[in-house]
Amino acid sequence: MISFFKKSAKEENAYLKAIPLVADMHSHILPGIDDGAKNMEQSLALIGELIDMGYRKLTATPHIMGDFYKNTPAIIHEKLIKVQLAVNQKGWNIELKAAAEYYLDEWFMEKLRREEPMLTFGNNYVLFETSYINPPVQLQEAIFLMKSQGYKPVLAHPERYIYFHDNFSKIREIYEMGVLLQININSLSGYYSVPAQVIAEKLVDNRMVHFAGTDCHSLKHIQSLHLAQSKKYYAKLLTLDLLNHIL
Ligand SMILES: [Fe+2]
Repeated sequence: MISFFKKSAKEENAYLKAIPLVADMHSHILPGIDDGAKNMEQSLALIGELIDMGYRKLTATPHIMGDFYKNTPAIIHEKLIKVQLAVNQKGWNIELKAAAEYYLDEWFMEKLRREEPMLTFGNNYVLFETSYINPPVQLQEAIFLMKSQGYKPVLAHPERYIYFHDNFSKIREIYEMGVLLQININSLSGYYSVPAQVIAEKLVDNRMVHFAGTDCHSLKHIQSLHLAQSKKYYAKLLTLDLLNHIL
């Protein structure tokens, strides 16, 4: 019994150091340019919910994907300005920014090879994702090109890639190459899958998480975020030195 109480006290102390998240760096809240918010009404509904959850700074990261979403900095910034105006009209207390979630495809590789300016957030961070099923053949080259151009690559939701589910050491390899890792908060509620939840928890246990993101696309994600926030691993996540806190 004594050791049980000792452990509980230790865990409680750890949780006392938890810092609430006020900055999100991964969301699809700009209207009509990807599979997130479809219109301004939906954008405002999501932003309103995120404000209620305590967020004070949101970085919208619309998909940029050669096959589906050929978004450009100009398209994204135009949407950001429209949403900002609508938010101002509501009188809401929230800082809005925009970057992108780049899908690792030839469209992205060409941009990197041509050294086109990337959309970044915070301290020159570039958020990128890969196929969910197949390990990307250009991963090493993409990381090299991003780093050599002064960017800090951030891999979106490593826990969601099926090709990592039986291969945690591959995630560790990428981590050791200096790629920053961002987990989705909703992975902790089991929203995506059990393996995604298991990997996300393992990343938290191993303190291999640099950013936490909502990856919010719709009100369904908001519901799941409430559930995730009640989980033990969410409390544990908040004790890590997340870079969200310095955005
Ligand atoms: Fe996303």
